[in-house]
Amino acid sequence: MEKPEIIMAPGPTPVPPQVYLAQGSPLVYHRGPGYGAVLREVTDNLKTILRTSNDLLIFASSGTGGLESAVANLFSPGDRVVVPVAGYFGERFAKIARAFHLDVRVIDYEWGQAVRAGDVSTALDEAPASAVLMQQSETSTGVIHDVEAVGRVTRDRGVLLVADVVSSLGAVPLDADGWGVDVAVGGSQKAFSATPGLAFVSVSDAAWAASKTATNPRFYFDWAAYKASYELKTPENPFTPAISLMLGLQAALRLYMEEGPEEVLSRHRILSEATKEGVRALGLDLFGEHSERAWAVTAVRAPEGVDGNELVAKVRADHRIILAPGQGPLKGKVFRIGHLGYYDRFDIIRCLAALEMTLEEMGYPVKRGAAVAAAEGVFASR
Ligand SMILES: Cc1ncc(COP(=O)(O)O)c(C=O)c1O
Repeated sequence: MEKPEIIMAPGPTPVPPQVYLAQGSPLVYHRGPGYGAVLREVTDNLKTILRTSNDLLIFASSGTGGLESAVANLFSPGDRVVVPVAGYFGERFAKIARAFHLDVRVIDYEWGQAVRAGDVSTALDEAPASAVLMQQSETSTGVIHDVEAVGRVTRDRGVLLVADVVSSLGAVPLDADGWGVDVAVGGSQKAFSATPGLAFVSVSDAAWAASKTATNPRFYFDWAAYKASYELKTPENPFTPAISLMLGLQAALRLYMEEGPEEVLSRHRILSEATKEGVRALGLDLFGEHSERAWAVTAVRAPEGVDGNELVAKVRADHRIILAPGQGPLKGKVFRIGHLGYYDRFDIIRCLAALEMTLEEMGYPVKRGAAVAAAEGVFASR
């Protein structure tokens, strides 16, 4: 008998049955009160989770579309932006900015390092810039960057702060307005455990002001069009929305709100701690700075003599658990466990047990049950 695979990579994440059922229900016509109510509810719930009173726009695209929309709406060719790059998704933001002919000042970090607010401050002192573009969760390394600290720097200087919160929103604390985040970009397929295909973007007054003078080309992602449609008596999308995906996201956010935003964050913290204690109990090293903040993804160094990619492939083949391999320079050296979204204690236990068995078969000395016992210890103490 083959059970379905379980995804324990950082997105897309496992989807609850309520979400699939909602997505399979009849379409709600997108011009009229039915869809208007769905759009309003989803928007309000996302704003609550982001802790923002700014506008929130939803696009039928993956998270990258949301990032592109920020670059297209905020800037003109030649505008200078500061982009801290500490992994694969930092690189992506820099690439998008270059594609729109911005003057991109990269702050280079080794993968696994956390962005330091002092470096952002120095970069802005060296040459003024319109904005800082950064991740909160650099999914390729698991590292959570301190958006709050960078927000203090950007706010002091009147520089826009654009935060890619695609893999952190809903799993890690965020206070978009309190931290001065002008634009936050999220996606449906991560901590909310809806299916992929929706991106959302919050837009502050300062960001709206910048968008009025920005000349970068935009059409499908023109923020102003989405705002105008949302502000109709019955909220709408300017174009045909992904109605089924919206019904799924509505159901996912209802589950999120029923559990409670604080409780969801606390669940992520505990699952993350259990994962990390389990991994440590096997004698493995965690990868990346500030692993205590990494509630979304645990990155682990593959032990001497074990190739991380082979480990990930074997865990999948033998145990039907999908972990994520290392990316870029971390290929083979690191593997990643995603625990953001629809997971509970036994998903973590199952994953750790599979790791123990796989490592043992690959010749790494394992004390059977050590990781599972360490995780149970965390659960018992919380
Ligand atoms: C931090 C971060 N930014 C951006 C993206 C891109 O999102 P998408 O794959 O939905 O386009 C991802 C996807 O994993 C991500 O983790």
